[in-house]
Amino acid sequence: MTSHEAQRRIAALRSEVAAHDERYYCSARPEISDQEYDRLKRELVDLESSFPEAAASAGAQTPTARVGDDRADGFRTVRHRQPMQSLDNTYSEAELREFHARLSRLLGRDDLSYVVEPKIDGLAVSLTYEKGRLARAVTRGNGVEGDDVTANALTIRALPRQLKRAAQAPVPDLIEIRGEIYMALEEFRRINASREDAGEERYANPRNLAAGTIKLLDPREVAERSLELVLYGIGACEPAQAGGDTQSGCQARLRAWGLPTVEKFWTARGIDEAWAAIGELDRIRHGFAYATDGAVVKLESLALQREAGSTSKSPRWAMAYKFAAERAETRLLSITVQVGRTGVLTPVAELEPVLLAGTTVSRATLHNRDEIARKDIRVGDYVFVEKAGEVIPAVVAVNPARRAPECSAFVFPARCPSCGSAVVQAAGEVALRCPNYDCPVQVRRRVRHFASKACVDIDGLGEAMVDAVVENGWVRDVADIYRLRRDNLLTLGKSVEKSTDNLLAAIEASKRAELWRFIHGLGISHVGAAAAKDLASRFGSLEALSQSRHEDFIGEDKESRIAGIGETMAEAIIEHFNQPRSRTLVRDLIRAGVSPRAPAAAAPGARPLAGKSFVLTGTLPTMTRDEASARIEAAGGKIASSVSKKTSFVVAGSDSGSKLEKATALGVSVIGEAELLGMLKGE
Ligand code: IVH
Repeated sequence: MTSHEAQRRIAALRSEVAAHDERYYCSARPEISDQEYDRLKRELVDLESSFPEAAASAGAQTPTARVGDDRADGFRTVRHRQPMQSLDNTYSEAELREFHARLSRLLGRDDLSYVVEPKIDGLAVSLTYEKGRLARAVTRGNGVEGDDVTANALTIRALPRQLKRAAQAPVPDLIEIRGEIYMALEEFRRINASREDAGEERYANPRNLAAGTIKLLDPREVAERSLELVLYGIGACEPAQAGGDTQSGCQARLRAWGLPTVEKFWTARGIDEAWAAIGELDRIRHGFAYATDGAVVKLESLALQREAGSTSKSPRWAMAYKFAAERAETRLLSITVQVGRTGVLTPVAELEPVLLAGTTVSRATLHNRDEIARKDIRVGDYVFVEKAGEVIPAVVAVNPARRAPECSAFVFPARCPSCGSAVVQAAGEVALRCPNYDCPVQVRRRVRHFASKACVDIDGLGEAMVDAVVENGWVRDVADIYRLRRDNLLTLGKSVEKSTDNLLAAIEASKRAELWRFIHGLGISHVGAAAAKDLASRFGSLEALSQSRHEDFIGEDKESRIAGIGETMAEAIIEHFNQPRSRTLVRDLIRAGVSPRAPAAAAPGARPLAGKSFVLTGTLPTMTRDEASARIEAAGGKIASSVSKKTSFVVAGSDSGSKLEKATALGVSVIGEAELLGMLKGE
């Protein structure tokens, strides 16, 4: 390569990497996999170091000198006391060993001990605790300053407002604690499933969804999705010795202070042991609550860490070893189009079976029509499939080098493959839908959902049985389940008497299922099981919910707001019951004898907080103080304005002041909004 060619390639790579940085950090919508990104960045780093003059003449601005920037509008910018650096990373064992050799030379010894930790695929956060009390949560931003996301972070149940006092680890005056905010796979899948039902675009992976969530401007919207937290390091600390003197000791301190830490890490003497630990981590990491994309190898001794120091970008004492993405290449045999419960049409890739992450994959989602066009995926292509936290793998790209000339672009069907209705696309939605509520596939899926374990749980009404009762025309909507006739069911086969009677008994029993199960079963967009429980305790009956108005959720009347229900969900509920057929369905269910069990705490007269007194302080993540007071009083609790020994609980939000200090001094229990909500529900 000539210097001139290098300069052109450097300029091209710089703008490409910068564009991907923007998509990854700011809009949380990456277009390429992490591994593809790392490959581009590595090529750029290599060229910049082999052709320094070419790099200089391509300009001073290069994304390789930055750590990315996640700052967004609408948040206060806060400077980190100690910068948040990024880590050097590698996919190669040889380079990891080179890291050890380099450190040994630098420190003049080769008896180095390491800690090997999982590399959590979340978004970096820095928590500042002042005198043990949470002062703020800040994103990495550009490494020097980040966004203050305290209000949103406070929706995380595992985030302590107050560090626990621990005999072996005194709480420092000021400490920055570093870790990652992430979303559990289960929650990620729940949200994507509900987005798909609603015809909205799916999120690419849990990391991006977590990153997008923490940057929502309304904490109530954040509270609708659950985020989690894990911490692994310490930034600034005053007095300094409070941080301890080893990396593993630092983990122990974090745990002693009541902070969530990684469930497992390894201490390793020398790089061979570290390499063995990485292998073990790779075998067990799929059992962790968070997605891991590698291992982080850190020097165990903090004194040696200080001695090794950092470059402008990353510490010399740590290295990330990244696991290769679980990806395979195979041939796309055909594209089929599936109809979902709410009519959304999802294109599915039918693949030549291929082994991927231990399972044989023969189908993968193609998401929607736009995705197929954007990636230019054609039947007959060789494609790459990857698992990105989804149960179903996704087609991430085609291999253009292997495209046969006869491959032609896929034409998305204009009619529903099940009922033949012309497909529609609502304004602002990416999905195409079958608009026919009576479309047989939609009916089957609605009924399956309603009868499933996650909803009213009717044993014996599995897929095959649902198909049979829908095909025979006995069930057209879920209320028809309660009108199924024994003589009809008996025609489904020989000697089916026993199973028919069992099914009818299960159907009868389901009439008394808990209210939230029915609410979940209605299949309202965005309403999962957790929201259904909140709605059940608030409304107490299907009829009341079906008559809910906008004010019941978000209106001026703050007292009637419901925590955990944000604008999107409220709109979906109103929109759902605006359809006459949804209200008719509720009426039909009740006429058919359905009588859901309302939650105990919502029953009139239930006063789970009777005899307890509360003091509120600071800003709560999703409720105003007035609202919290009203709900506490409604549940039988008393509100006091100052803290005394008799106070049962202090409910603390962000920026809580002297009341919190007093509570700590008097040994009064301090709780957050999440715990309060649990108590209100009688938990
Ligand atoms: S230590 C000086 N430990 O990965 C930087 N980072 O790709 C010290 N990460 O910036 C970071 N898991 O946001 C560390 N166990 C772990 C980690 C971890 C995930 C993140 C962190 C870091 C990024 C680098």
